[in-house]
Amino acid sequence: MRTKIVAGNWKMNNDKQETKVLIEQLQDSIENLSLENTRVLVAPTFVNLSSAVALANNSKIEVVAQNMHQAANGAFTGEISAAMLKSVGVHSVILGHSERRTFFGETDALLAEKVDTTLANNMEAIFCFGELLEDRKSGNHFNVVESQLKNGLFHLEAAAWKQIVLAYEPVWAIGTGETASPEQAQEMHAFIRKIIKDHYNQEVADAVSILYGGSVKPSNAEEIFSKADVDGGLIGGAALNATDFSAIIKAI
Ligand code: PGA
Repeated sequence: MRTKIVAGNWKMNNDKQETKVLIEQLQDSIENLSLENTRVLVAPTFVNLSSAVALANNSKIEVVAQNMHQAANGAFTGEISAAMLKSVGVHSVILGHSERRTFFGETDALLAEKVDTTLANNMEAIFCFGELLEDRKSGNHFNVVESQLKNGLFHLEAAAWKQIVLAYEPVWAIGTGETASPEQAQEMHAFIRKIIKDHYNQEVADAVSILYGGSVKPSNAEEIFSKADVDGGLIGGAALNATDFSAIIKAI
């Protein structure tokens, strides 16, 4: 059975105190849930990772990072390495979010390097990808998604996929209030699983968790999560509110 995951990407939100409050509220609201086969992740900003890890210790919440540099160390002002993340207890990182691709110029080739660094450090990569509105309108969305996956991940050996989580995030649905319909999400997730099967095998395709991201909220989570190939969500805006985020966790 595939692991289900609900991940909150906090982006550039929440200072130290707000981080504390949100984690505590979230802990209170999910404490009594039986989260069998389900992981709950939150991704605070770098400066609050350390305190978030301490707060989430012995709870149902795992703390992950929003980004990471591909090099081991060196003259990369403002960047954060895998070893630094691990040293504060973070073992999983979101890579290739569309905001990183769009605003910070992250390319497929760079992301392939970041994936390699993540795996070389025995960490987990939550690899994001998804098409732009113009790709969907022109009917090119399957091609775009296929090439992002091939260029970012298909150089990996099958065994390395144990450390990969996928997050399909149609860019037109991120932060816009627009959501892919559950059918559109399922269609793309099934396509993703098929190209993984074709390149690797059924076992790899069946084992990888594929999250949907893009305006998931309490009102639509249950329907999206009910789809066969949707194994959870990467949540932005709705993850900033403990009531909404825990409602989404309950939906899974
Ligand atoms: P959203 O963001 O839920 O606010 O649309 C999703 C994401 O960027 O991961």
